[in-house]
Amino acid sequence: MVKVEVETNSEEMSKKAASEVGKEILERQKPVLGLPTGETPKGMYNLLVKYYENGLIDFSTVTTFNLDEYYGISEDHPKSFRSYMERHLFEKVNLKRENSYVPAGEIPRDELGDYCKKYERKIIKAGGLDLQILGIGSNGHIGFNEPGSSFDSRTRLVKLTRETVEDSFGNTEKPPDEAITMGIRTIMEAKRIILLASGESKKRAVKRAIEGPITEDCPGSVLQLHPHATAIIDERAAEELELLQISGPPE
Ligand code: GLP
Repeated sequence: MVKVEVETNSEEMSKKAASEVGKEILERQKPVLGLPTGETPKGMYNLLVKYYENGLIDFSTVTTFNLDEYYGISEDHPKSFRSYMERHLFEKVNLKRENSYVPAGEIPRDELGDYCKKYERKIIKAGGLDLQILGIGSNGHIGFNEPGSSFDSRTRLVKLTRETVEDSFGNTEKPPDEAITMGIRTIMEAKRIILLASGESKKRAVKRAIEGPITEDCPGSVLQLHPHATAIIDERAAEELELLQISGPPE
């Protein structure tokens, strides 16, 4: 069962998420974080930067692994997830560059198999993911594990659905239609998972992931099988939930 915490709006969701990440960093000697990109976690990253600037947290012993990256675009492409992470977090805190991993979108095709296995091994070598933060796609994807992805999947190259590509690139550019993503099994091996969602456009995916049947048609529904998964979502994203397992903010 996924524990649900409903916050009034996306700002409150971000505060709660940042405080959970902050606690994880303070409590562990060598915290290992799994990180997402997208609109949803931006507020959380802003707050983590503020905590760092105010001397509340220190990233010098933190290791991060990003969930995914578009395939076929360079690291410094403005829409690459590496450049997103640089802009929103990495270049603003004292995280060691050698401890921040984002899948590389320009690995030659014939090296991809080995590269993805190495990404998995690096996670294990770092001690495994202590806390994985996730967003959710409107079709229920987590990372870039689109509907139909096996719950046993590992880091690999995937084809993106048109819906997912349009969510990020609109109709205008010639977008990448493949990505490297951590697999669902990889994500589920994290000791703790926090799913973030805000806004009405996510209410259907949130409902399916949290209270729907556990099925590969909705990758997010796998979280119901995790022993320590919490959804921190805002009221709009929670609209369709029957809210059986809610623990909201104090009155
Ligand atoms: C992308 C990412 C996901 C993210 C999702 C939702 O597809 N690969 O990790 O959760 O988009 O993004 P947003 O937060 O912008 O809605």
